Amino acid sequence: MSWSSPPPPPRAPFDPAQLARDLRDGREVTDAQFERLYPVRLREMSRVHWTPLAIARRVVELLAPTADATVLDVGAGAGKLCLVGAALTAARWIGLERRPALVQAAVVAARQLGVERQVTFTEADAADADWGAVDGVYLYNPFGELLMRADETSLRSVGLLDGAAPYTTRSAHYQQLVDAVAAKAWTLRPGARVVTFHGFGGQWPRCLEQVSSETAATGPLELWVRRGADA
Ligand SMILES: C[S@@+](CC[C@H](N)C(=O)[O-])C[C@H]1O[C@@H](n2cnc3c(N)ncnc32)[C@H](O)[C@@H]1O
Repeated sequence: MSWSSPPPPPRAPFDPAQLARDLRDGREVTDAQFERLYPVRLREMSRVHWTPLAIARRVVELLAPTADATVLDVGAGAGKLCLVGAALTAARWIGLERRPALVQAAVVAARQLGVERQVTFTEADAADADWGAVDGVYLYNPFGELLMRADETSLRSVGLLDGAAPYTTRSAHYQQLVDAVAAKAWTLRPGARVVTFHGFGGQWPRCLEQVSSETAATGPLELWVRRGADA
């Protein structure tokens, strides 16, 4: 006779199509369930670097894209926001990301989820993004890691953005990127929406008007709207 506890029940097989249905129908889906779309090493960095699912749903509500709208995630990581947005709306979602391994994971996840026709993931630098043709932009503090020591960010396992550059170099690059992003607000169409989670590191110019601010889990979630052409 053995006194050891019974083994845990076997984990249900992963069914991405069911996951997509659960998302669409508003059923409870945990971050851990969603991230079975990703390779294990990308799940490990989720808590800090990927938008939590409940917040992603709220971001999609705030962006409120119509069926013919296009939304851009600047620094899309493994594509979580775009994937959730594509599952919940008929809009088109574009994720820009510098790290090829993350772009690749996002492309694979989109196929599994069956939303590949609505999303595009591109390896590109945020500084080169074109904001002129989009209706919404999302930023989850995309450059913050440049202010962290290389050995402090779990993203280092998918490649360091500025290698082992000293802090002064990284912080100068950080400021350049923040300034470049802030300037892009002027190129948005009037009425375009911008949502930030944990900010983007700078201040928006006066062409954006803040519509709302809420505290979401780990930080502020803000909605801004591009004012008319005379801003
Ligand atoms: C905090 S994560 C957010 C990921 C994703 N938006 C989400 O919410 O799940 C920031 C991402 O920005 C990317 N990133 C940092 N600097 C970038 C740059 N200059 N151009 C494009 N992507 C960048 C990082 O590789 C990282 O994946």
